Amino acid sequence: MSSERQDTIRKLLTALEDHHPGEMRHAERVAVVAVATANELGLDDSTLERVHSSSMLHDVGKLSLNADLLQSTGLLTREDREQLETHVDAIQFLNIDHAWMEGVPRIIRSHHERWDGTGYPNQLKGEDIPIEARLIAVAEVYDTLAYGAIWKEPIGEDAAAAEIEKGSGTWFDPSIVEAFQRVRHLIQPVNV
Ligand SMILES: [Fe+2]
Ligand SMILES: [Fe+2]
Repeated sequence: MSSERQDTIRKLLTALEDHHPGEMRHAERVAVVAVATANELGLDDSTLERVHSSSMLHDVGKLSLNADLLQSTGLLTREDREQLETHVDAIQFLNIDHAWMEGVPRIIRSHHERWDGTGYPNQLKGEDIPIEARLIAVAEVYDTLAYGAIWKEPIGEDAAAAEIEKGSGTWFDPSIVEAFQRVRHLIQPVNV
């Protein structure tokens, strides 16, 4: 990894971790799963690198959200939910002058889109969603289900993988779900 890329990612994630504890480890785990799945699909090195950068930074837009909203564990109002959804816009935190950043803002913007077109913010469908974002979607939902988050009790790896399977073809790209299921047993959980 180029040291500039490494430093930029580390700096942004440190700021995000300060703002909302737990985000750094979440991002690192998502990156491991997304890159392993991308590798299983035979994607080229530059795509793998972009999957890594985008995974590490996928939630960095939460820096612009109120910390209380991020900590809230109860039912969210519609307004809160709309606020939360704005975290896919991370452009203000990303310096797109770096060559490695090419495509990253659009990928981050698409990480909550769904294969069937019911996601946000643009209801993109199928292969209109960048493949890096489709990989992050599987990895991040798996991570949140398996290991939990402030608003969610963990259900464990096998139950989480079963939920991912259920979402194949609706929420998630079926070929990515297949590749994920093949590699997930080979992945050592990191920073759980
Ligand atoms: Fe997100
Ligand atoms: Fe996330």
